[in-house]
Amino acid sequence: MGMKFFVDTAVTSDIAELYDYGLVDGVTTNPTLVAKSGRDFKGVIGEICQIVEGPVSAEVAALDHDGMLAEAQVLAAIADNVVIKLPLTLDGLKTCRILRARGVKTNVTLCFSANQALLAAKAGASYISPFLGRLDDLKIDGMALIRDIRTIYDNYGFETEVLAASIRSPNHVKEAALAGADVATIPPGVIKSLAKHVLTDKGLAQFAKDWADTGQSIL
Ligand code: E4P
Repeated sequence: MGMKFFVDTAVTSDIAELYDYGLVDGVTTNPTLVAKSGRDFKGVIGEICQIVEGPVSAEVAALDHDGMLAEAQVLAAIADNVVIKLPLTLDGLKTCRILRARGVKTNVTLCFSANQALLAAKAGASYISPFLGRLDDLKIDGMALIRDIRTIYDNYGFETEVLAASIRSPNHVKEAALAGADVATIPPGVIKSLAKHVLTDKGLAQFAKDWADTGQSIL
């Protein structure tokens, strides 16, 4: 399958709308997005999993390994397509390794370096989430990180999927695709804007006018 699009939100109405356009292969959430939605965390994850059959990332809140593992068990029980999102810390990597052995999918998040991504792959992560926008905010080339991770994973045949995260603009999506990211997780507004071009709008307005001038009807 080609590049997958995950929608980066916990707002179910946005997910359902984009799903109907065929633009949602999965969903990612994080504590900030859940807080913004104002919804109960476990309830909203359950609802999202009913809309989308693809992977739905739900992030643990604990910072220690035992806590992460206990929370992961609760979250994984919500639905078969829940992916456990773990922070890129030593405790997160330890939890990742155990979940991998149990057949639970993981998304290792808050990745800002190629070495962190290497550790996540060695821990058997299903997805690694390098945060493009937050690096760009610091005037660091986020796309170079995606390219480095792609090269390292391909060098060794790691199966961990590169999930370009913290995407802020259509250009980020294009650049991530050029860099060979397996997945981009994208805010709903940015997904919709991918279809927009000023010349498409202008051309359509001209066609509509010229068609009206013919006085014809297709139906
Ligand atoms: C999703 O997996 C990430 O948590 C999200 O893309 C982060 O985006 P932000 O940097 O815009 O908060």
